[in-house]
Amino acid sequence: MSNNSSSAPDTLAERTLALWHPFTQEALDPQPILIDRAQGAWLYTGDGRKLLDAISSWWVNLHGHAHPVIAAAIAAQARKLEHVIFAGFTHEPALELAARLRRVLPPELAHIFFSDDGSTAVEVALKMALQYWHNLGRPEKKRLVALEHAYHGDTVGAMSVGADSAFVAPFQDLRFPVWRVPSAYCFRCPVGKTRATCDIECVEPLARLLEEHHREIAALIVEPLLQGAGGMIVHPVEFLQRVRRLCSEYDVLLIADEVLTGFGRTGRMFACELAAVVPDLMCLSKGLTGGFLPMGATLCTGAIHETFCGADRGRTFFHGHSYTANPLGCAAGIASLEIFDTEPVFARIAGIEKIHRERAKALEGHPAVGDIRIIGTMMAVELAVDDPGYFSHLRPLLYHFYIEKGVLLRPLGNVVYVLPPYVISEDELNYVHYVIADSLNLVLPHATAG
Ligand SMILES: Cc1ncc(COP(=O)(O)O)c(C=O)c1O
Repeated sequence: MSNNSSSAPDTLAERTLALWHPFTQEALDPQPILIDRAQGAWLYTGDGRKLLDAISSWWVNLHGHAHPVIAAAIAAQARKLEHVIFAGFTHEPALELAARLRRVLPPELAHIFFSDDGSTAVEVALKMALQYWHNLGRPEKKRLVALEHAYHGDTVGAMSVGADSAFVAPFQDLRFPVWRVPSAYCFRCPVGKTRATCDIECVEPLARLLEEHHREIAALIVEPLLQGAGGMIVHPVEFLQRVRRLCSEYDVLLIADEVLTGFGRTGRMFACELAAVVPDLMCLSKGLTGGFLPMGATLCTGAIHETFCGADRGRTFFHGHSYTANPLGCAAGIASLEIFDTEPVFARIAGIEKIHRERAKALEGHPAVGDIRIIGTMMAVELAVDDPGYFSHLRPLLYHFYIEKGVLLRPLGNVVYVLPPYVISEDELNYVHYVIADSLNLVLPHATAG
């Protein structure tokens, strides 16, 4: 399939050779599609087509592409102060973004450390958690716990707490050891229960681990309620609540990685809110700037922060990035939060969830459908196929089918999911669902009994 601009097909092919694209196998995958511009939920290609962005361009876009309020805020900021070193200096956009974040976050998460993206927000959280215990004079608390199916990013620390997978296999020796406990993956229950009758027994291995080893454990990291890249796995709120209680009981820090779930994706501003849970550290990125600029933030409690302060310089958090608190990113973040106040964002979010739930009914019982999972603006269909997992041979077939139909959907192996910008219209979203339903005919010959 060629996606070249019709005016100069070879030029794009040649020019793109120098570019190495993420998660792309150049020997197998087609040439990337040139996008000229974008508006609302639509991407416009160089050859005059348009694609409905049903995954918010890797889960970053909230209020639609090229939203004029965010674009104007960035432009105005660029004319005033594009960047300044954040060690020893501060600026109004950082102060204002911090103040606005504090208004929407639990008051306990009183301290904000800015970084560059989701992975760095996670690295910062892990390092803060370890240094917290070090600063407290308890350096033996240095082990980390993470969930099976977790994904926290591609830098080395984030990869270490991420699940074992083909993605990280070449770097096995670099990954530091992490204790891994089951996730509440109800469709493939790790302890053989069914959700209707279970008592969240999947948390018991964590309880046993903490009982035995809490003196060595610094922190547990979770993607609250929704594990994204691991297969769009939705957890019962009780799972997160039990995890919180166990961490408190055993004096282990809880890190909530809300890089995906933050800023309304799960129906509330943050997924932790749905479970009425307050973590000790929280990681944000993706929607932080409305999807306009890369930026990360790690939040922590006053109790953590104060251990880093004192006359001894050794307590300092020796971590920073050249673009920490970049004013353009901050301006985008402020504008994005402003849109939450000035546009009916949560009504849009509720509307998306309503459509997901209606359309899910039409898919239930289909022989190619194993499980349907919905939380807020995310709906996932786990296909019952003979080769489940990220490398399912159906993945490229489905991806191309959707592109041909004018929709950007990027299945995670045999899991097809929708995670649209909040401005997607009812008709547009219904079209996405129609296309997914249509694609099941492609899956049927490969479907298993479940
Ligand atoms: C939960 C979670 N944490 C961290 C990351 C890493 O973010 P980034 O790709 O911006 O480094 C991701 C990316 O998908 C994510 O979903």
